[in-house]
Amino acid sequence: MRFDGKTVVVTGGALGIGQAACEILAERGASVAILDWDEKAGAETCEKIKQAGGKAIFEQVNVADFEQVGNAVERAARTFGAIHSLVVSAGIQRYGTAVTTSEKQWNEVLDVNLKGAWNAARAVIPFLREAGGGAIVNVSSVQALASQQNVLAYTISKHGLLGLTRSIAMDFARENIRANAVCPGTVDTPMLKWAASLDPNPQSVYDACRAMHPLGRIAAPREIAEVVVFLAHESASFVTGSVWTADGGLLTQIGGVPQTDAI
Ligand SMILES: NC(=O)c1ccc[n+]([C@@H]2O[C@H](COP(=O)([O-])OP(=O)(O)OC[C@H]3O[C@@H](n4cnc5c(N)ncnc54)[C@H](O)[C@@H]3O)[C@@H](O)[C@H]2O)c1
Repeated sequence: MRFDGKTVVVTGGALGIGQAACEILAERGASVAILDWDEKAGAETCEKIKQAGGKAIFEQVNVADFEQVGNAVERAARTFGAIHSLVVSAGIQRYGTAVTTSEKQWNEVLDVNLKGAWNAARAVIPFLREAGGGAIVNVSSVQALASQQNVLAYTISKHGLLGLTRSIAMDFARENIRANAVCPGTVDTPMLKWAASLDPNPQSVYDACRAMHPLGRIAAPREIAEVVVFLAHESASFVTGSVWTADGGLLTQIGGVPQTDAI
């Protein structure tokens, strides 16, 4: 699955799933434009890719700001000549219910997770058109398909991301632009480390996450990035508007397993 001659824009590419996607894409010949607000991590990921012989640029942006995203995407197109795919991995997690979520938190989460994905799509789609088509992959979550307690804004943003994905898929299908979503279970990234650090016993969060997945573990970032990269590649040429879970069986499981030696 080579990407020679292709350029991919990756939001949230400095760390976690986005970083793993950037590394795989660069290993397979793509030029990668890393868009992220973490200047240090973004520069480090970019340098690591270049040291390994890959092609990458880093643009510091807040994905919630369309002007910043638009300018960065234009610079990427000018640097590499064209844009063929977009991966949206920038995201934040905040906790609260319908009562405890503040308006500030609501805006923060929806601005980054949902408006950020729209901003990236509207900046990149004109370039995908110029290239004669392309692919958009939005990293959503199992929380787009189910929910947990205390994650109101996050779960709404991830449900919304499926709507954005499907709308784009329908609006641009005739221009050979595909849009798909990936819904990961728990992944071992800085986001998970941050979430676990909110618990007095962070290790217990990791243990609980491992136990709840039928595969008995959490994912490595590359295991999710491989699915993302496939959908960004022309190998997935007839796949659009779809939602791919990569959740170690999490959403397949129903509780209440009988305690018996027969299985
Ligand atoms: N880690 C998990 O268990 C998990 C599970 C399901 C879905 N996801 C989703 O996958 C995506 C990637 O998550 P991750 O675990 O790799 O997170 P992460 O925090 O490790 O990485 C996210 C990246 O996005 C960047 N970012 C955040 N807000 C930004 C903004 N406003 N502008 C620009 N960059 C911004 C961060 O700097 C970071 O580099 C997120 O959308 C997340 O919701 C993660």
